[in-house]
Amino acid sequence: MENTIKRSFSAIQPSGTITLGNYLGAIRNWVKLQDEFDCIFAIADLHTITVRQEPALLRSHSIELLAMLLAAGINPEKSLLFCQSHVHQHAELAWVLNCYTQMGELSRMTQFKDKSAKHANNINAGLFIYPTLMAADILLYKADIVPVGEDQKQHLELSRDIANRFNNTYSETFVVPEPYIVKSGGRVMSLQNPTSKMSKSDENTNGFIALTDSKDVIMRKFRRAVTDSETVIEYREGKDGINNLLNIYSAVTGKTVEEAVKEFEGKGYGEFKPAVGEAVAAHLKPIQEKYNDYMKNKDYIVSVYTKSAEIASKIAESTLRKVYKKVGFLQKP
Ligand code: TRP
Repeated sequence: MENTIKRSFSAIQPSGTITLGNYLGAIRNWVKLQDEFDCIFAIADLHTITVRQEPALLRSHSIELLAMLLAAGINPEKSLLFCQSHVHQHAELAWVLNCYTQMGELSRMTQFKDKSAKHANNINAGLFIYPTLMAADILLYKADIVPVGEDQKQHLELSRDIANRFNNTYSETFVVPEPYIVKSGGRVMSLQNPTSKMSKSDENTNGFIALTDSKDVIMRKFRRAVTDSETVIEYREGKDGINNLLNIYSAVTGKTVEEAVKEFEGKGYGEFKPAVGEAVAAHLKPIQEKYNDYMKNKDYIVSVYTKSAEIASKIAESTLRKVYKKVGFLQKP
């Protein structure tokens, strides 16, 4: 019988502090996807070294990210959760796809342009071919959908082009993946500069909430959140700070923005901001407790990613063999 459950693939880079933005914009939605899809999640460590990393830090960031994904609700009984570098087929398929991708296409990627401007002293070839590795990640598993945020849409579009091109050149090989855009929780903005995205690289650490921040720190950051010179709590254009706080409040309480606005009618920012802090801290508390437990049990984390990588590698190998055959390599022993 044909399997009618669709497959989802997504990956996240172990590049440091995991923020409330990562959680509400991606991780939390991944957890929900598990009810509906056959989910494969990877720690995109191969992608991370396109920017210079301190090896010891990369190792701890990877473990922390795995622990946080488990704490947030990624269920290893249901889904695969592994490190990209542990499944050698990712790098191998990426090589093949590089030969079916044009320099011009890669030069048009806005992330490449942004990152080469930001890391002008290390514009390495890996940074340039970053999107073909991402295409390999997705295409190896014949993923039907890929949950992506705004910033990765162009890369997914390129993955689709590469898949179509390969299929047309040879014969049906790859599933052409669809983007899966999640509506809720979308973009969490900086608490200090609410017109830009919440980012761990914000020099002002008050701009972001780390998932491991203590309640005191969370409360302090929300109290200091930048709002506007008005006094009413309303969701409308021009009130970026308040809109962001309302979105966050709604995301962590499950209330709609309208309900939240009603709740705070007649109240001032001085009351609203700590209330958002309280709600965020309460939402993160059980996740932080589980996170601390997982961090004390690294053997368990290792067992999860080892088992998952074994299964992933089998799926990946079957796709890779088809590709090798189609391009004309002699049969793999
Ligand atoms: N490039 C993605 C990011 O930085 C992470 C990623 C790697 C990814 N491979 C992927 C996302 C495949 C979706 C599908 O966010």
